[in-house]
Amino acid sequence: MSSGLGEAQFEIILDHYRNPRNYGELSDASVKVKDSNPLCGDVVEVFLKINSDGVVEKATFRGHGCAISQASASMLIESIQGKKLDELRNLDKQHIFEMLGIEVGPVRVKCALLPLKALKAAVYSYLGLKLEEEE
Ligand code: FES
Repeated sequence: MSSGLGEAQFEIILDHYRNPRNYGELSDASVKVKDSNPLCGDVVEVFLKINSDGVVEKATFRGHGCAISQASASMLIESIQGKKLDELRNLDKQHIFEMLGIEVGPVRVKCALLPLKALKAAVYSYLGLKLEEEE
């Protein structure tokens, strides 16, 4: 069943894919992590500039890959500007699915979650903590 709402949301996703927000390397990043989807080789690299209060002053990303992975990265990075690291530690898949706003089939779940994996790895690496694998 197709709905107008689903189509509008799909347009938003495509727009993030075509015009990614906060795209590019951050030269003064406090931490950066690159991750890839081993199934397809698509890449997302996350850059975070974190201030002494543990707040993300600026976040950017770069990468290449399918529309879902890159749009998800753009939306995620946009949503974490000015957020505290503690909040980022608690982000979960639900945050991604809500932002995307469409049903993501099982094949595309790894695409949608790749940016979150990279972001979590960056946060945990910055904090010197070990990241438990989810799923
Ligand atoms: Fe590679 Fe989506 S097909 S991340």
